[in-house]
Amino acid sequence: MNAPLKGLAVQAPSYVKNAKLLAWVADMAALCKPEAIYWCDGSQEEYDRLCQLMVDAGTFKKLNPAKRPNSFLATSDPSDVARVEDRTFICSANKEDAGPTNNWMAPAEMRATLQPLFDGCMKGRTMYVVPFSMGPLGSPIAHIGIELSDSPYVAVNMKIMTRMGKAVYDVLGAEGEFVPCVHTVGAPLQPGESDVSWPCNKTKYIVHYPETREIWSYGSGYGGNALLGKKCFALRIASNMGRDEGWLAEHMLILGVTSPEGKKHHIAAAFPSACGKTNFAMLIPPAGFEGWKVTTIGDDIAWIKPAADGRLHAINPEAGYFGVAPGTNMQTNPNCMASLDHDVIFTNVALTDDGDVWWEGMTDTPPAHAIDWQGNEWTPAIGRETGAKAAHPNARFTVAATNNPALDAAWDDPKGVAIDAFIFGGRRSTTVPLVTEARNWVEGVYMAATMGSETTAAAAGQQGVVRRDPFAMLPFAGYNMSDYFQHWLDLGKKLDATGAHLPKIYTTNWFRKGADGKFTWPGYGENMRVLKWMIDRIEGRGQGTEHVFGVSPRYEDLNWTGLDFSTEQFDTVTHIDKAAWQAELKLHAELFQQLAHHLPQELPATKAAIEERLAA
Ligand code: OXD
Ligand code: MN
Repeated sequence: MNAPLKGLAVQAPSYVKNAKLLAWVADMAALCKPEAIYWCDGSQEEYDRLCQLMVDAGTFKKLNPAKRPNSFLATSDPSDVARVEDRTFICSANKEDAGPTNNWMAPAEMRATLQPLFDGCMKGRTMYVVPFSMGPLGSPIAHIGIELSDSPYVAVNMKIMTRMGKAVYDVLGAEGEFVPCVHTVGAPLQPGESDVSWPCNKTKYIVHYPETREIWSYGSGYGGNALLGKKCFALRIASNMGRDEGWLAEHMLILGVTSPEGKKHHIAAAFPSACGKTNFAMLIPPAGFEGWKVTTIGDDIAWIKPAADGRLHAINPEAGYFGVAPGTNMQTNPNCMASLDHDVIFTNVALTDDGDVWWEGMTDTPPAHAIDWQGNEWTPAIGRETGAKAAHPNARFTVAATNNPALDAAWDDPKGVAIDAFIFGGRRSTTVPLVTEARNWVEGVYMAATMGSETTAAAAGQQGVVRRDPFAMLPFAGYNMSDYFQHWLDLGKKLDATGAHLPKIYTTNWFRKGADGKFTWPGYGENMRVLKWMIDRIEGRGQGTEHVFGVSPRYEDLNWTGLDFSTEQFDTVTHIDKAAWQAELKLHAELFQQLAHHLPQELPATKAAIEERLAA
């Protein structure tokens, strides 16, 4: 057995042959001073052992195996429940390269800041060496990372979320490149000091050095702050790789849609955090769509590269879902509920009296009693009286993609899937219509660049306020946002010049509210109606009406079989209010002012054209 090794001797298993990796692990061990180094092999036996270790330590509760086999519940420190955007830094050599939407510090200054924090940060803990591939092992679109973490919670989550284990070293070989990711909870243990169930530190730093492709994370054990393959590598560092190498790293789900005739299309869709990407990726077509099938390739991140066939091919770099639990139920996402039947790690949901889990929205009737995510007694009456939630609004599940009954047969295909359309969708209670097709690539880039969305609990901070979230990448673009827009425009131009088939671009908004303050569009499975219209358009048979900033369906252009949705309701979700759009365009202008450095001139030019049409 690959047992924890005492002392600082690196003593890697014989199959680890990469000299750069060995030297780096030795350097990091000397800096962080762990009590032991453990090289993860990614086996099931190892996963079970580390889970048991966390049960013994009080970090995990094993759920009732009769209810939810091989599943666990972790509850975090109340101060460590979401991504910390204000503590996330892009430390490029030049400030302009991080851009105005990222926190920046000069690399030397950040290194000097982190040095004393990391010095001895793993004392009394084991440093786990976690080898992982983002994307199918050996795929030309995939890349390798190694995470060093003092959190066994991170090690087991990384096994689910990535292709993690020994086989990564075969691909890495003696000379291969990897992204070094160092993570600590920032809670060293003195000799004899007992541990807490969720160690973390009030001070937090999530740091990226884009030029040297490094990630350093301090003080948090939660989600994207700690599972460094996800937002840190697959978006912030990978967006830099993509810009330099001519590809895209995007905050997008990828789904396949197969028609009753067996014709398949692939769509990649960007929505901000907690806006329903997982639900959309696992959509079950409603009544009226018999014979249609939606299958999941990914639910959060897409890596997209131009392929030899002239098309953009996408892979999901992840191997699991780290999804938001509250609101997930048999109506909103039956495939997800089925995925969660077994082998799941839950974080910050409530524990029921029969040893199972519950979260707000999971069932119509809440349990009569539960232990909430903070370990307190919870009843529906307590919830009503005190406002206490049983589950934290950003409570999560971690589950392998292979648990998903709607998993696409090509989800693990190293070639990826050819993308037919991109969707960009914000959460807006007003203004933005249900769906609009861009008339060309530049108009699509404009729509994506100016996207706004109401904030959610996925990030710490105020919720429900509209913020511009270009491409749903505001917290994830690892370089200057205007250069990122330029990269999209350049890629479009380059593909167009080769006669390639460019994906169509759409913007959607499932979240418009009526005068009653309720969502008018039923959403979830009913989004299939919009998806079908897009496919009709891609196939050249769908009709629509052209307006100031694109093409939208008329009522009669959607299939309404099986849904009672009136023309008045349709008007509520599609109406373009001139005054609201004039105000909206002022906000686009503010965004462009903020992003003036390197802003591609195509974007203000598109805005001017929309304004002209709006004034006509
Ligand atoms: C996520 C997020 O966890 O976007 O996927 O916050
Ligand atoms: Mn996300």
